Amino acid sequence: MNKMLNIGHRGAKGFEPENTLISFQTALDLNADGVEFDVHVCKSGELIVIHDFTVDRTTNGTGAVSDLTLSELKKLRINGSIEIPTLEEVLLLFNKKHFLNIELKGTHTAKLVCDCIEKNVQEDGFAYSNFIVSSFQRDELESVANYNAKIPLGILTQASVEQALEWAEEFSATAIHPHFSLLTTENVALALQKGYQIYTWTVNEFEDIQRVKEFGINGIITDFSDRI
Ligand code: G3P
Ligand code: CA
Repeated sequence: MNKMLNIGHRGAKGFEPENTLISFQTALDLNADGVEFDVHVCKSGELIVIHDFTVDRTTNGTGAVSDLTLSELKKLRINGSIEIPTLEEVLLLFNKKHFLNIELKGTHTAKLVCDCIEKNVQEDGFAYSNFIVSSFQRDELESVANYNAKIPLGILTQASVEQALEWAEEFSATAIHPHFSLLTTENVALALQKGYQIYTWTVNEFEDIQRVKEFGINGIITDFSDRI
């Protein structure tokens, strides 16, 4: 098995405002192998890196991401001075040594993200294996599987490893991404035996990190990349 990957959750959420360029750079400075982040489509059609469906919690603005244009979103500030990044801006921080887990949080993100990955593979020196696209949303997963089967797909679950394995088979996914509390010796062995990679989240406490490492999984998504 390859090395277990240290993946910074929303960048380095334990240290910097989530899903920002400074958060992603900090994760790399803490020796993360890559990062996980969330994408939505805004009103003018660009892919925006933000967790929630609205800007209310993380910025000085209000409203749904899907009701705001890129130029309106760019006027908002996170923690007083930081802009919301686009997917394109985020990808500029990384290269073919890194692992990028793009979570399709918003609806209608699948095809746009696939197109962006395809461009990075064809023109910018990335391999498909630099990426994994994950989602809890069945429609988005199905859309990636149908649109570009070369892009590694990860099935997110907070509820059931068994259901994630069913969807993984249905959509020819590469991986399952279960919440760490769902992992057992038996379901990890079953998933690995079926040939799926396992990326678990969001593992922050030392005791939990030690426990999940012993399962022999492929990667840990954490707010604290310095702890892995
Ligand atoms: O991808 C794992 C994790 O990020 C899923 O939950 O709410 O942090 O996006 P959330
Ligand atoms: Ca996420």
